[in-house]
Amino acid sequence: MAVKVMGITCGRKNSNSEILLKEALMYCEEAGADVTMINLKDYHIESCTGCTSCTKGMSQGKNTGCVLDEKDDKKKIMDVMLAQDAVIFSAPTYDLMPTAEYLMFGQRSLSYETSFLETIGAIEHKDRIAGLICAGGSTRAWQSMALEAMQATMFTTDMQVVDMILATRIPGRAQCLLDEKLMARARKMGENIMKAVNTPPEERGWLGDEDMGWCPNCHSNALVLGEPQWDGLHYPVECQVCGAGGNLEQTEDGRWKFVIQENGYLKDRTTVAGRAKHLEEIGQTQGGFYADPEKQELVKQRLEKYKNKQFKGI
Ligand SMILES: Cc1cc2nc3c(=O)[nH]c(=O)nc-3n(C[C@H](O)[C@H](O)[C@H](O)COP(=O)(O)O)c2cc1C
Repeated sequence: MAVKVMGITCGRKNSNSEILLKEALMYCEEAGADVTMINLKDYHIESCTGCTSCTKGMSQGKNTGCVLDEKDDKKKIMDVMLAQDAVIFSAPTYDLMPTAEYLMFGQRSLSYETSFLETIGAIEHKDRIAGLICAGGSTRAWQSMALEAMQATMFTTDMQVVDMILATRIPGRAQCLLDEKLMARARKMGENIMKAVNTPPEERGWLGDEDMGWCPNCHSNALVLGEPQWDGLHYPVECQVCGAGGNLEQTEDGRWKFVIQENGYLKDRTTVAGRAKHLEEIGQTQGGFYADPEKQELVKQRLEKYKNKQFKGI
């Protein structure tokens, strides 16, 4: 049976994000994949209401779905997306980040939290691969959170990112078509996706540019100073995306590199074990809040002051 590859974009029609995605998908199609592609602009996606009924259900062993399942197209897309072997996401950069359309779609995936649903036996495990493309008018400097924010939406549905492209300096409609190197790189993403799909899951790894990003674990280019975490763990420096911890070290040629320390993978969000640590944190933090009648009463009393205070609206 042919492998399934899907492309999801939210860029302008016939423009950069869409074209780069199509170039990658064309390789996959030529290599025998069954290819599907959508542009989120053709679908209606509502923002997460924050009700958390999905995770409350999961914590009681039930797959309740999302309260918005009948109200928009998210479920329709997810039913197809989660059946794929690989998905390539391609978004334009607005205000340093992927567009709100993309983020709204990504942040609606909580009810599909694969590790939670697998734990309660509601779904079977499936190994999925992802490729990420972000297209912007500027260089890396003005796309500083673009790929990183897309990476952050991959954990919930257990997508293993094997390649990423930051497409720079293409502000004009379809301007990418003038950059032959970039177009060739997009095709290479298709090749990398097919290579990963045809590799046993336990042997799959990073296939993107070798020197990409600060983080040797997830290849993000974003590091932050570590602060003590809920359980006391404190890394000097952390990867903002995967949470790997370590420090900066200077190499002999005077360059700096991020070296992950021995216990630096404890909270690695790209792994099920790392995300389980976050589940522990939620259990501890929320459990201590919701299950404590004294705290609930205190909040109720203090809330009155804010509930009753109104300012002029527009
Ligand atoms: C509201 C808005 C904000 C933008 N912000 C950025 C930005 O922060 N960084 C950047 O590199 N490009 C920025 N751009 C340029 C777009 O990323 C660029 O035009 C890109 O090619 C759009 O992709 P598309 O052709 O697939 O729609 C912005 C464009 C718009 C309309």
